[in-house]
Formats: sequence, C-alpha cells, structure tokens
Amino acid sequence: MHILEVENLKTYFFTEAGIVKALDGATFNLEKGTTLGLVGESGSGKSVTSQSVLRIVPKPGKIVSGKILFEGEDILAKSENEMRNYRGKKISLIFQDPTSSLNPLFTIGSQLTEIVTQHEKMKKTEALEHVIKTLKLARLPDPEEEIYRYPHQFSGGMKQRICIARALLLNPQLLFADEPTTNLDVTIQAQILTLLKDLQREVGMTLVMITHDMGIVADMCKYVVVLYGGNVMETGMIETIFEKPHPYTEALLKAVPRLDQTKELVSIPGNIPNLIELPSGCVFHPRCRYAVDACKGNKPPLEEVEADHSIACIRWRELNGGR
Ligand SMILES: Nc1ncnc2c1ncn2[C@@H]1O[C@H](COP(=O)(O)OP(=O)(O)OP(=O)(O)O)[C@@H](O)[C@H]1O
Ligand code: SF4
Ligand SMILES: [Mg+2]
Repeated sequence: MHILEVENLKTYFFTEAGIVKALDGATFNLEKGTTLGLVGESGSGKSVTSQSVLRIVPKPGKIVSGKILFEGEDILAKSENEMRNYRGKKISLIFQDPTSSLNPLFTIGSQLTEIVTQHEKMKKTEALEHVIKTLKLARLPDPEEEIYRYPHQFSGGMKQRICIARALLLNPQLLFADEPTTNLDVTIQAQILTLLKDLQREVGMTLVMITHDMGIVADMCKYVVVLYGGNVMETGMIETIFEKPHPYTEALLKAVPRLDQTKELVSIPGNIPNLIELPSGCVFHPRCRYAVDACKGNKPPLEEVEADHSIACIRWRELNGGR
C-alpha cells in the first residue's frame, strides 16, 4: 500500500531573477512502513519535496500543479486548518541543524511538553511522562533529569536525538529526515543513522532519508528516488538501482567516497543546472557521458522499465543490453 503518491508535482519559486523550477514534474510513490532514500546533488529539489508534502514551501515558492496523496487523501485540497492536523501528527520532519531547530530559551521538557498539550488532550503531568518516554525511545541516556536542561547544555548528537524525539511525539506515520547527520562528527553520524534505522523498525513508521550520500542510502534504504534539476530520473529498489542505474545515478554512485580507497571523492563533471533556464530535453544531457543529439529533443518520460524500476532516459535499454 502506498502511504504517499506524488504525481507530476511542480513547485516553483517566483524570484526577481525569474521562475526557479525547483520541482518540475516530479512523480514517485512511497510504500508504507519502508525506508526511502531521496537523493540528488545540492539544489536538485530534495528539501522542496518534503516542504511541498507538508505544504510549508517558503515564499516566493508555490506549488503550481500536480498531485500529492497521503493515505489516499488529496493534500493539495486540504484547508490550512486541516493541514495543521497533518504536520507533526501524521507527517513529521527533522532537519540538518539541530541547534537552530530547538528554542534556546526553554528547557527541553517544557518545549516538548507544549507540543503534546497543544495537540492532544493530555494533562501536563501526563504529557511530561509521554515526553520522557519518547526521549527514552530516542536513547537519551537520562531523560528524567535532561528535561530540566536547556538546548545549549547538550552536544550536537544529543540535540539531534532530542529533535528526533520531538518529531516522534505525536506518533507520525511518515518522517522526513533531511540530511540529519550532515553537521555531526563521523562517529556521531553513525549513531544517529543507527537510531533512525532502529526506530523505523520499532515504531513501524515510514522513513524518507534525504541525502546526497549514496553510502547512507545503500546502508539504510529499501527504495530510492533520484532527483536531478527538479526531475525524477529514476525510482526503484536499491539493488536494482545499483545493478542497472540511470546514467545520472551511475555518476552519483561513482561519486561515493569509499573508505577502502584513498582516492578523493569523484565529483560529477560539469555544473548543476540553472533552474531558471533548464536544459532542453533530458535535463542531465549537458553532463551525461552517454548523451546523443536526441537527448536534447523531448524530455524523456519516467517509464517503468521493469518491476519496481522506473527510468527517465532514452538510452537506458540500449545501454543495459537492449532489454
Ligand atoms: N526560498 C527559496 N527561494 C528561491 N529559490 C529557492 C528557495 N528554496 C529553494 N529554492 C530553489 O529550489 C532549488 C531546490 O532546492 P532544495 O532546497 O530542494 O535543494 P536540495 O536538493 O534540498 O539541496 P541541498 O542538498 O543543498 O539541501 C534550489 O536550487 C533553489 O534554487
Ligand atoms: S536521456 Fe540521454 S542525456 Fe539523459 S540520461 Fe539518458 S543518455 Fe543521458
Ligand atoms: Mg536540502
């Protein structure tokens, strides 16, 4: 069953310099109870995807067209009031920077308890108990004491655990984790990723890992959606994608820093596209090593090429042995 269906989603930013097409017709589905990796280079539209689903796209951005169904319900048809029942309660989000996500003026206990009492009919003492329980779930070592502390009294890794607990307070079915470990030390990164992996299993929620790191995706995700220049290039099971990738995914995979190699990170040659004047045809053609003249013509549609595997590339079949 699909918990989320996104169809031909267009989210544009109407800037003075022109219309920035952050998402230009993105389509993908998300199966309930699984982990999906939303990958792509910087500026490919990953964060805008989660902002669109929660309907929190900042100005001058706007969802221009398309469909977003959450558990079959049309998100784009909901009133702002109805959306408040989705944010945090059904769909939650954690960000890259735990420091700026927490209010420095209030203790952890008071800011988390307030979220609970705002949404649930619970007495303060009950809400506080629920907060302690959720902080335990996020493996805070001593929540009964830690609720009386302020954000600055915690390390970066502990703050991210608190943010994870906060995101889970209202038992959401879907959690977007937007590069949740980018600002943390390597050892702490691994701990947070393990925590998210465990929580996904324990709570049975659906997790979307937003990252540009294919290593993290390989380690955590069952499904992958690859974004480039606001377009979905490929969707599929992780194994399939590693085996027969879209040319852009292949380039991303080559850019994975390998621990067993001293070689520097291989970055993809060329620049990310200008979203105001997107290249014609396949948006990846100026950087694609397989590009031919026909790639500059029409935009290749995202097509199901085999079970659980969709590709937007006119040459993929030929490059993969003519299937
Ligand atoms: N507030 C904004 N105003 C104008 N343009 C924006 C705004 N937010 C995003 N964009 C545009 O949308 C594009 C996609 O942004 P998004 O934040 O989704 O990228 P991303 O894939 O999350 O990248 P990163 O890995 O750097 O976080 C950006 O390149 C930018 O041009
Ligand atoms: S359509 Fe052409 S340019 Fe685009 S990925 Fe395929 S081969 Fe490369
Ligand atoms: Mg982002």
